[in-house]
Amino acid sequence: MSVDPGAERACTGNLLLSPSRDAPNRTSPNPFLDTRARVPARVSQALITGGAGFIGSHLSELLLSRGWHVHLLDDLSTGAMSNLRHLREDPRLTYTIDTCASSRVVSELVDDADVVYHLAAAVGVELIVESPVRTIETNVHCTEVVLEQAAKKRKPVLIASTSEVYGKSLALPFHEDGDLVMGATSKGRWSYACSKAIDEFLALAYWKERKLPTVVVRLFNTVGPRQTGQYGMVVPNFVRSALADRDLRVHGDGTQTRCFCHVSDVVVALADLMDDERHVGEVYNVGATEEVSIRDLAERVVALTESESEIVTVPYDEAYEEGFEDMMRRVPDTAKVEQALGWQTTRSLDDVLRDVIAFEKTRSVI
Ligand SMILES: NC(=O)c1ccc[n+]([C@@H]2O[C@H](COP(=O)([O-])OP(=O)(O)OC[C@H]3O[C@@H](n4cnc5c(N)ncnc54)[C@H](O)[C@@H]3O)[C@@H](O)[C@H]2O)c1
Repeated sequence: MSVDPGAERACTGNLLLSPSRDAPNRTSPNPFLDTRARVPARVSQALITGGAGFIGSHLSELLLSRGWHVHLLDDLSTGAMSNLRHLREDPRLTYTIDTCASSRVVSELVDDADVVYHLAAAVGVELIVESPVRTIETNVHCTEVVLEQAAKKRKPVLIASTSEVYGKSLALPFHEDGDLVMGATSKGRWSYACSKAIDEFLALAYWKERKLPTVVVRLFNTVGPRQTGQYGMVVPNFVRSALADRDLRVHGDGTQTRCFCHVSDVVVALADLMDDERHVGEVYNVGATEEVSIRDLAERVVALTESESEIVTVPYDEAYEEGFEDMMRRVPDTAKVEQALGWQTTRSLDDVLRDVIAFEKTRSVI
């Protein structure tokens, strides 16, 4: 079966051999409930919703390298099968192109899985501002379906949440137990944060009330090869503009800062957090702590690409919508995940930028 972006919807397949799917040799349905789960002879299967997306494709790669079987569920709304092209020779990677809003589809796939990574979501500030109904419905309803179906079989679930849930909080660095400070409901951008906060409440409630093992991860800005710039993600947008000698459009005055973490570091935390029952019922920040202003980011991209581009500022009202609110700083306190896993970032911002530049250069010649 083709792995091109135009792959048919509502289909199931193997990236190499269609339509059959290698059944993994499983001996236990739930690694958290079985201490033999890490015996090397045992083959485990992960279900990754949103697996054809940016982070999902990197997580698939990591889990396969650790000997897992991986099944992806994705509706290709923002993801693409081309993100998995380099893994197409691996018969342990299988997929279903459909929506995780479907209880029937999710129920069948959860049956075969040992753990579930729920990454599917409507992502990207532009998408959220332009399509708030889709954002709220996708993010809340899909999570309800995944948790409900996983609870029937007691399959552990990791929920990908976001640093956006800290909202306008000024209590930096953001700690997992800190207050969440949301803006008015009339400002569309907060619908993403609120929908993800509901996902978190629901995941933690399933653990407390129904003993479904859940782990919540709040991802801070995650970047790397294969991230699309189509929905407003700043790093791929800057890199593409710089490579084409177009203006880099900095929103606001550019003094707002962010911390960008390489996706390869992020997926290690995701995989390891599902490897030990001690993390169940917990919320973890995962991200880099090196702050950079968006203006400096633009300058670094221009320098690294040796571009002729100009850097221009665009008011938020013009870039998004009238009254758009942004956070000036967003820095994680990562002590909890560091202590839990010994996790550390291994790549600097310049490493990330070099990787994205190299990737975007190859993409432009394909
Ligand atoms: N990239 C970041 O910086 C970042 C930061 C915070 C949180 N997150 C979270 O990480 C997760 C993955 O984000 P990403 O950056 O890889 O974005 P992405 O858009 O590349 O991945 C999301 C994937 O979900 C799929 N999807 C959307 N709706 C679906 C549905 N109804 N059914 C099945 N699949 C569906 C999309 O097609 C896409 O492949 C999301 O939950 C996002 O909220 C990402």
